[in-house]
Amino acid sequence: MKYDVIVIGSGISGMRAAIEAKELGANVVLITKSSPAANNSFMAKGGINAAFGNMEDGDNIFNHIAETFKSSVDIGNEESIRIFCEQAPAAVRDLIGYGVQFSTLEDGRIAQRPFGGSKFKRTVYAADETGPAIMKALYDVIKNYEIDVIKNHMAINLLSRNNIISGVTLLDEESEKVVVCEGKSVILASGGFASLYKNYTSNVKDATGDAIAMGLRAGLKAMNLEFVQFHPTGLEGTNFLLSEAARAEGGRLVDENGESFVDELNTRDFVTRAIFKEIQKGNHVYLDLRDVPQEVINTKLIGIKKRVYTLKKLDPTCDLIPVTPVAHYTMGGIATDVIGRTTIQGLFIVGEAGDNGVNGANRLGGNSLSQGAVFGKISAYEAIKFANKMKKYNGVDYYDITKDIQWISHLQELAKHVDVNEIRNEIGRVMFEKIGIIRTESELMEALENFKAMEQSIKNGKSEKSCNVKSLLELVNALLVAKATAKSALLREESRGSHFRIDFPEKDRKFKTNTLIALDEIDASKV
Ligand code: FUM
Repeated sequence: MKYDVIVIGSGISGMRAAIEAKELGANVVLITKSSPAANNSFMAKGGINAAFGNMEDGDNIFNHIAETFKSSVDIGNEESIRIFCEQAPAAVRDLIGYGVQFSTLEDGRIAQRPFGGSKFKRTVYAADETGPAIMKALYDVIKNYEIDVIKNHMAINLLSRNNIISGVTLLDEESEKVVVCEGKSVILASGGFASLYKNYTSNVKDATGDAIAMGLRAGLKAMNLEFVQFHPTGLEGTNFLLSEAARAEGGRLVDENGESFVDELNTRDFVTRAIFKEIQKGNHVYLDLRDVPQEVINTKLIGIKKRVYTLKKLDPTCDLIPVTPVAHYTMGGIATDVIGRTTIQGLFIVGEAGDNGVNGANRLGGNSLSQGAVFGKISAYEAIKFANKMKKYNGVDYYDITKDIQWISHLQELAKHVDVNEIRNEIGRVMFEKIGIIRTESELMEALENFKAMEQSIKNGKSEKSCNVKSLLELVNALLVAKATAKSALLREESRGSHFRIDFPEKDRKFKTNTLIALDEIDASKV
């Protein structure tokens, strides 16, 4: 298999990159480890930010830049934020061109709602199903353009020679064989790692930080992994996300006495900590939609209404809805430049997989879908520019392929005695309890030890249960990224944005910078 552009990951960044590459005439493939629908872009229900200024509040691109930077708590990269905010309106218009139907005002213009951390109504939406509306439309375009899509193939490692990308090795889930895909350029867009918080996350189970693990193994550095965004309102006892749209449309957060205790539309880190404090006191917190007009619930929040009834038998028009914060988005990733270039030539990393500094310590709600659309498109352009410069394929080093074949057969042996579910649950518990909303040095150290013990248990292979190699590879990646996250959280001895340390509760100018971590700084004992 040989392509000009290989795109790994089928979320908004990956699909948008593949479409752009195809439109620019490239021979492109989209590779996903499961099905194109299994990704977190579907989970961002409430909207996509772009400063159209369609509402009466006079929003503009400068406001979007200022608020995105403010939300980053002073460590966002001003250049990537500027590029993002300037390009977001065009990126949303592109989506409309691809058939996405956003909600509109009476005069036909795009409607916009307020989201947390903003004074303006900037979030474009399709009721409370924005992510699904976008992803379905983009996948139709992928099919219409007849872009090659390879499903159920998980990327194992990046291949490069002389610091130039050559392609990737893939694990065919069904045959469990290693497949080589050569490319003149590679765009890694396979998402973040919030599903490591299993049982405490809104994410699909696939978000195991594979791209970050691959990047680290390829010698790249991971940046700001300690910044994990907890969305304030998961539906208690489920992984269902009660979109910020609910608060945007007038929903309130109330305590057990029905009293307000936080500004619902503050930034997510702030609202999450306020809710968490209540929960730590043993109290419940509720989303109260009872004063939101029925017509609004039945049109703009209909997805929430239906799911809350299915999952909890509650009717938002008359019942309070119990909420709890859930891990939702990971701001850190493999360090890139402002538009996703890495230090391996021809390798681009976008979306949650990479960190170009656009979110800093805290992402504004609604910015993730537009970042995917903006940087996915740009990465395709850059990838093609690079591919065109390469007269021929870089060629793969057969030593690297042999190593991966041996590694996969080693994992096949180990997989006979690994209970993946049990370890994934345990990772989830440790991530939430020790690298969660509130952290301390001692708990972070404990988490590191816990993850090392889990790796050892995989090597010892004592379980009666077995798993397939793909799940084990995900688990190995997850543990590497979990250790890297604990290490990064230890490095940042301050509190900033989504990273809150009880032992260092204030922001500290010394840390007005990015944490960077390489494989040899993590306990990289290989499974
Ligand atoms: O609440 C939400 O709809 C989530 C949006 C986002 O993460 O951007």
